[in-house]
Amino acid sequence: MNLPSLLWPDPDAIPAPPQPGILGILASGNGSNFEAIAQAIEAGELPAHIAVVITNNPEAYVRQRAQRRGIPCVLLNHREYPSREALDAAIVQVLQQHQVEWVIMAGWMRLVTQVLLSAYPERVLNLHPSLLPSFKGLRAVEQALACGVKITGCTVHRVTLEMDSGPIVAQAAVPVLPEDTVESLYRRIQAQEHRLYPLAIRLCLAEGSRLPKFSEKRHN
Ligand code: GAR
Repeated sequence: MNLPSLLWPDPDAIPAPPQPGILGILASGNGSNFEAIAQAIEAGELPAHIAVVITNNPEAYVRQRAQRRGIPCVLLNHREYPSREALDAAIVQVLQQHQVEWVIMAGWMRLVTQVLLSAYPERVLNLHPSLLPSFKGLRAVEQALACGVKITGCTVHRVTLEMDSGPIVAQAAVPVLPEDTVESLYRRIQAQEHRLYPLAIRLCLAEGSRLPKFSEKRHN
């Protein structure tokens, strides 16, 4: 079946960023979105460099993906930190050591604190498998199926303290089929995530010129 899909803003209308961005990826699991971002960079579609991957999960498959690509991957196990703030302080330290300018949460399953947001104001992005503000939190695909919506999708947004909230950067719509299971629907949502996230990052890099120059801020 030829399913329609809609991704917005229009990919063809996203301007070229003035300069490449330095990305730090936060991932807790599989890392297919890390891979999609790395592939977009390789293909010349996203002018960026992934300086470091940080994971909180010793079992995360993203560690192997990063190793295969020769990208440093740092394990910061949340169980070893007394608070969310302490974990975020360690994350900020690693990000700054690698000169990271943009924090890309790709399947990062921890709530963030003001410690991270203050270090990277307006520069922390998250991906969620629903059309926010619908179906926040865990099991977003199950929630959408249970609700009987006919269209769901995925969202990239700037991160705020509240989970799966914050200004929306880009969204892709995915039709729900009558025969869909969580697995089949999630497979189609992930295919759109892999298109959407590189485009949304490109859009943020292009718009980033209006933010305070990061390198200046960092060295103040
Ligand atoms: C993605 O589907 C992303 O939308 C979701 O985690 C998955 C990570 O997949 N994030 C959230 O649910 C955040 N609330 P990946 O590890 O294969 O990139």
